[in-house]
Amino acid sequence: MQSLEPPPPPPYDIIILGASGFTGKYVVREALKFLNSPSSSLKSLALAGRDPSKLTRTLQWAAHPSQPPPIAILTADTSDPPSLHRLCSHTKLILNCVGPFRLFGDPVVAACVRSGCDYLDISGEPEFMERMEAKYHEQAVETGSLVVSACGFDSVPAEMGLMFNSRQWIAPAVPNRVEAYLSLESDKRIVGNFGTYESAVLGMANAQKLQELRRSRPKRARPAIPGPPPPKGSIIESQKKIGLWAVKLPSADSIVVRRTLSILRENPHGLPGINESPEQIEKREAFWSTVKPAHFGVKLGSKSLLGIFRFITVGMFIGLFSGTTLGRWLLLKFPSVFSVGWFKKKGPSEEEVKSASFKMWFVGHGFSDNSLLSRGNVKPDTEIITRVTGPEIGYLTTPIILVQCALIVLCQRENLPKGGVFPPGIVFGSTDLQQRLQENGISFDVVSRSALPSYPV
Ligand SMILES: NC(=O)c1ccc[n+]([C@@H]2O[C@H](COP(=O)([O-])OP(=O)(O)OC[C@H]3O[C@@H](n4cnc5c(N)ncnc54)[C@H](OP(=O)(O)O)[C@@H]3O)[C@@H](O)[C@H]2O)c1
Repeated sequence: MQSLEPPPPPPYDIIILGASGFTGKYVVREALKFLNSPSSSLKSLALAGRDPSKLTRTLQWAAHPSQPPPIAILTADTSDPPSLHRLCSHTKLILNCVGPFRLFGDPVVAACVRSGCDYLDISGEPEFMERMEAKYHEQAVETGSLVVSACGFDSVPAEMGLMFNSRQWIAPAVPNRVEAYLSLESDKRIVGNFGTYESAVLGMANAQKLQELRRSRPKRARPAIPGPPPPKGSIIESQKKIGLWAVKLPSADSIVVRRTLSILRENPHGLPGINESPEQIEKREAFWSTVKPAHFGVKLGSKSLLGIFRFITVGMFIGLFSGTTLGRWLLLKFPSVFSVGWFKKKGPSEEEVKSASFKMWFVGHGFSDNSLLSRGNVKPDTEIITRVTGPEIGYLTTPIILVQCALIVLCQRENLPKGGVFPPGIVFGSTDLQQRLQENGISFDVVSRSALPSYPV
């Protein structure tokens, strides 16, 4: 006779995989703040990776100046599937910090999906994310594994920031387009670690794979956006209202946001949770009824035109060189040279991390009254500017976001979809993520609302 006893819970709430990496160690430091604190759902944590002695040093660094807490160190390698299956059987949730994800992510997602364990990562690689969705979504729905990539600076500020802007448009007002302008600031140098640079170079080198993948899949529903498509605009733009020069940023953000808006089109009330209370269902539906889709793009801003030319130079180097084996070798061998000092093999110093911050401005254009649109082709007559600000993007903001998403998975699992591969906005948008980010140093503000001169076209 079969036992009716439910299986015992796994020993760890969370396992951080790739904890010894540059970003991983900051994720460990952030997670320790919440381990066993009275109101936290994080009661047990383990670190995993290839090299136990490196992981032990990571734990010492992350706990400093306190004594490291007694945390399990587990050995796992993404090229060794049984080691990943062991991890999955020991935890509710894996936080994956092993990148580039296009090289190392697939076996980790596969192991989680097979075992029904939940998975979050900090990937900023659109082709990886869409490939995981194509390959594992159906199976993840069945096994109850929730798989969410891009739970870092890529792409939560963009997702939550767009929603925050779009919710400021109170009916009958509607947004038409929101342009995000990212400004990175520091008293010292702005530096990123090699891992992010390598992921960007390999992403650019394989850009056509994303197009091939999309062509091989059924077309997604397009969000229904009121009004005309946005104008093309110039390559370099001067945004006087926020005091920035800006150039288009080919980041993952706009792709991830578009995936969330497409899923919202297919599920206008958001994604139902496993076991929501009637109040929770009402809250979720009320939230999503206030999110209005808009065309969305991201630009990188700088106070000086010279800064913009530096961005363009780096973009041109990566664009030109990443297409050939020799070019990629040069880019990866000399990161500092080809990124004009923005990426270093050893990453930024702690001082450089501490002194950096970001501002992401969301400039929304739309219509004061939806009914204006029925009068024919009119231009937006209203502008709403909002802003998301926070500390350094890669090693402070990313860990804050990843850990808060993880805590939501631990304590609000009943309100989240049973399983599936999703972008972060559609999973966490209607939870208390924004409030949690605000409590942890990432703020959301309304900057201005103004009327624009409107002309019939
Ligand atoms: N979303 C965002 O905004 C954001 C921010 C920061 C970083 N990231 C992404 O995070 C990723 C990591 O970046 P990083 O700078 O932290 O890189 P990193 O310092 O090179 O760290 C990579 C980690 O992966 C581990 N690893 C490599 N191969 C492995 C394998 N076969 N099995 C198990 N572990 C393996 C490494 O372990 P060892 O220590 O044993 O070598 C290390 O712990 C990149 O893809 C980057 O783009 C995203």
